[in-house]
Amino acid sequence: MHSLDDNISHRVRAMNERVAGVKEADLYFYNQPVSELRGGASVLINGREMGMFASYSYLGLIGHPKINAAAKDAVDRYGTGTHGVRTLAGTLTLHRELEETIARFKHTEAAIVFTSGYVTNLTVVSTLVGREDYVISDKLNHASIVDGCMMSGAKFLRFKHNDMDALEDRLKQCPSDSAKLVVADAVFSMDGDVINLPRMVEVCQKYGAWLMVDEAHSVGVLGKTGRGIEEHFGLEGTIDIKMGTLSMTIPSVGGYIAGKKDVIEYLRHASRAYIFSAALPPAQTAAAKVAFEVILAEPWRVEKLRANADQFIKGLKARGFDTLLTETAIVPVICGEDEAAYVMTRYCQRHDAFVLPVVSPAVPVGLARLRATVTAAHESIEIERAMDVIEAAGKEAGVLK
Ligand SMILES: Cc1ncc(COP(=O)(O)O)c(C=O)c1O
Repeated sequence: MHSLDDNISHRVRAMNERVAGVKEADLYFYNQPVSELRGGASVLINGREMGMFASYSYLGLIGHPKINAAAKDAVDRYGTGTHGVRTLAGTLTLHRELEETIARFKHTEAAIVFTSGYVTNLTVVSTLVGREDYVISDKLNHASIVDGCMMSGAKFLRFKHNDMDALEDRLKQCPSDSAKLVVADAVFSMDGDVINLPRMVEVCQKYGAWLMVDEAHSVGVLGKTGRGIEEHFGLEGTIDIKMGTLSMTIPSVGGYIAGKKDVIEYLRHASRAYIFSAALPPAQTAAAKVAFEVILAEPWRVEKLRANADQFIKGLKARGFDTLLTETAIVPVICGEDEAAYVMTRYCQRHDAFVLPVVSPAVPVGLARLRATVTAAHESIEIERAMDVIEAAGKEAGVLK
């Protein structure tokens, strides 16, 4: 029997007391089940139809008839599981087709898929670098990158968010003959701003560092055809390790790395999450493959997302909100204290706009926010209505005067 006064008990109690306090104040909004996804722009939650402003389905591809049909067909042909790791009995022709599609989409020689984006970062960073090496990470990188850096055992250095002089200072600290991996989000998941790729590429090349970029929120969002951050900056072929997820713009689940053939072949034979975890299921693999094709076949979606994001950012700023430096579909609406973010969320959800609060430790103390998103599925009038609700919520919570 464990002691009731050890560290584990303290951790469990502290978290549960925090959650219970928020629930008692009727300010808890996490883990609510969605019962219907009505085209992605609205959802049914607790019997209420709400405008959906917290979704990652940036191009509105969730429920797309071609993608659904591909998933159903895959179930008919292969069933619902793979019953094996990729290396042994788990590889289907569908996996190969998806990897070839991703490589074409990302303009790389090859690609490899894993069963989640989180696991992709964890396993890839820790497979590329080890104890003798250096890994250098933007301070606001996603938790999966941070966890990969820590798991790798490499010397872990962090640089001030999106500050390329700070990155250069870090690289100067590394011995010139050491292996160095620089890693950053393309679009930051809590702030929506875009990494300064041109300077980052220049600095990495100057110091002989490998560059890995996480495009979870950039595929479908950045670049004229939605191909991501290299297309956005006109810098094709400058990132060594292009990581992405199959769970945001792509309405499936999983993660991928696109890059040179030799690196992909290495990951296929050295990354533990590929070798020791079951392969992506058939329906999710087929859905992801067709989704990449739909992005290219329906370019209006990328244009509409851009127009919607523009309207949302400009409209919220005009109403007096601080939206940090976002340029994308992720729009932080800064509330300040956690309580203000909870009160705004409650007001919005009671007025049928589904937004969610993000509080510390996911973001710094004092920068609690609504992490609102728009997608290509929204119509301009729906965005306008949601902004009116958010404005009224801001007044209710004292965030706006
Ligand atoms: C930047 C970033 N990378 C990786 C992930 C993990 O991806 P997944 O949800 O597909 O596991 C996320 C998820 O929130 C993310 O925002």
